[in-house]
Amino acid sequence: MKDQPIGIFDSGVGGLTVAHAIKQILPGENLIYFGDTAHLPYGDKSEEAIRYYSEKITEFLLSNNSKVVLIACNSATASAFDYLKEEYAGKTILIDVINPVIDYISTRNFKKIGVIGTKRTISSDTYAQKVAAKSPGTQIVSLATPLFVPMIEEGFIFDDISNAIIRTYLSADSLSDIQALILGCTHYPIIRNQINKFFNFNVEVVDSARIVASVLRETLEKNNLLNDKGFLKDQFFVSDYTDYFEKIARMFFEGEINLKKADIWN
Ligand code: DGL
Repeated sequence: MKDQPIGIFDSGVGGLTVAHAIKQILPGENLIYFGDTAHLPYGDKSEEAIRYYSEKITEFLLSNNSKVVLIACNSATASAFDYLKEEYAGKTILIDVINPVIDYISTRNFKKIGVIGTKRTISSDTYAQKVAAKSPGTQIVSLATPLFVPMIEEGFIFDDISNAIIRTYLSADSLSDIQALILGCTHYPIIRNQINKFFNFNVEVVDSARIVASVLRETLEKNNLLNDKGFLKDQFFVSDYTDYFEKIARMFFEGEINLKKADIWN
């Protein structure tokens, strides 16, 4: 069990920011990553569609011997995590990207925070409901920022276009006086520095990638699942391959990567 890989999935290559954070703190682990590039973006899909995709991908990761499955996508967590947790109860360990952040927020006593994410994540109201339940003294405002994903994927990161989009979204009145901003989408750590800069470094930018990676480490420790046999290999699969996906995958993973196509939809 211990030397089996950690299964990770996202709608595309954004979840590689989480894979990167995992490699930083768990370099001895083997990863198997699946990016559902054929169905990207999940942020605009229905809950029903995302549940169906997420279940199929979980099956793929488990049939490839994953010892745990990490949902590295907020849209998939918001739509499918509770459903998958019931489906796979007692069969595997599932980790998501939202609950670890909610736990972190509950340790900080913030008065007011913001969360940004895709339309699906924000309209699900998952963050707002969970913060209200776990940190009733913290006010949370939610804002959908759907242009960020295509902006980042098109490589507009540190230029006039990204500056204008970031400024336009984050100047929303509702976000005034926030003490922290949750990056509720696994693509967003790519623009973390620009967001920090927009707020003049006065707002804590909460990056789920790092938080989730440490929850994964604790979970592996607790279940005696840390790989003690040494790193062997990482595998990266996508449901639709293009050279472009491979190029941007390197930007998200911050390292060399080879994507393989896995046709799980036929
Ligand atoms: N990375 C996905 C998330 O965390 C967003 C990308 C998409 O819309 O597919 O929600």
